[in-house]
Amino acid sequence: MNILVIGSGGREHTICWKLKQSPKVENLYCAPGNGGTSLDAVNVDLAVDEHSQIIDFCKDKNIDLVVVGPEAPLASGISDTLEAEGINVFGPGYSAARLESSKIFAKELMGRYNIPTASFRIFDDFDKAEEYIRVEGAPIVVKAYGLAAGKGVIVAEDVEEAVCAAKEMLVEKKFGASGSKIIVEEFLSGEEASILVLTDGENIVPMVSSQDHKRAYDDDKGPNTGGMGAYSPAPIIDDVLFDEIIETVIRPTIEGLRNEKILYKGVLYAGIMMTDSGPKVLEYNVRFGDPETQVILPRLKSDLAELFMAVAKGDLTGKTAEWDERDYVCVVLAAGGYPGSYEKGTSITGLEEAQKEGALVFHAGTKEKNTEVVTSGGRVLGVVGMGNGVVEAVENTYKAVNKIQFEGMHYRKDIAHRAVARVDK
Ligand code: AMP
Ligand code: GLY
Repeated sequence: MNILVIGSGGREHTICWKLKQSPKVENLYCAPGNGGTSLDAVNVDLAVDEHSQIIDFCKDKNIDLVVVGPEAPLASGISDTLEAEGINVFGPGYSAARLESSKIFAKELMGRYNIPTASFRIFDDFDKAEEYIRVEGAPIVVKAYGLAAGKGVIVAEDVEEAVCAAKEMLVEKKFGASGSKIIVEEFLSGEEASILVLTDGENIVPMVSSQDHKRAYDDDKGPNTGGMGAYSPAPIIDDVLFDEIIETVIRPTIEGLRNEKILYKGVLYAGIMMTDSGPKVLEYNVRFGDPETQVILPRLKSDLAELFMAVAKGDLTGKTAEWDERDYVCVVLAAGGYPGSYEKGTSITGLEEAQKEGALVFHAGTKEKNTEVVTSGGRVLGVVGMGNGVVEAVENTYKAVNKIQFEGMHYRKDIAHRAVARVDK
């Protein structure tokens, strides 16, 4: 099999690393890739928003399967374009990708199929949104309806903050067209978990649970980020709850789409809030999570290339996945200043030493410069350790983290603290 992976983050490095383990994979490419994907695949400098470039490359290299990592190319319909050319693709088409690219589409679908989620109202007029926010009171959540690189959600502690967020989106056009409509949503309290499944639009193969850490600093303080660390499994999701989420969220979503003549092929990610009244959907993603992938895929014992191809061909019937029972923890090492502005081009040391500690090191914002690896993004590396139990996994991960250095590097010291607290109880 010849495979092209699209993307350049830690998620894509992890996908490439796992695909490379498959005896079925002959040639593996990553576009555009990063300083880590080049260790496991051949980086190719394609403009991934130009579908014709991808198609030409696939034809030239006899690509059997394209794996789309991030949401933007999915939202732009890359999968439909590739399928029309007869190329197998892992990742949903334009219509299904609206689960992520339009929060309005997602909310309305959940409404039609009784999928549990926060109650909400949609606005395109600021005065009406303000009036509603003042009546509802805080805490309350304001969301841009379209893609906003993880920055379009404001969990407002007070009414003025919510009104200000609505104004920035609807009047000041902070997120452009993505904020031309907003969702004002009930605040849900509880613990979050990520549930991901592979699906061919009919059958599903569930993946193991995980939990992300969105805030920049320890104790969940500071601004939201793309994710500062993750761990798997998430012990808040026991087997009973896991099945409940599959039956009340995942299946109705996939079946609801099918009922509307939309076949979902790829990975479906439900961000879940465990509330006192049960699991509720915070959001859908139509792709793997980053950094959740860094703790999920290393636990997979089955052949990822085979599973991806089965999804692409609509042939997941009877397929299962085997998992490593150990706990996995990922700590993201970020550039100084992230999630604000940060420097690039800083040299990184200690990568081999960290691996000698038994950890996996996945690259995100890195690139090769002469013989060095240097920073080239905000989230630079994901260090993944494992252990028998979460306490051991955390210890092993931070031991490896301590070996790596670059100027300005910062990371959270409390990844998996909720799972550790459960053990301590
Ligand atoms: P989203 O991109 O929709 O997942 O939102 C990003 C983050 O905002 C989530 O991971 C939650 O931490 C938080 N969030 C989103 N919606 C709500 C809500 N209704 N209640 C509380 N927190 C929320
Ligand atoms: N880690 C959250 C996401 O990938 O959206």
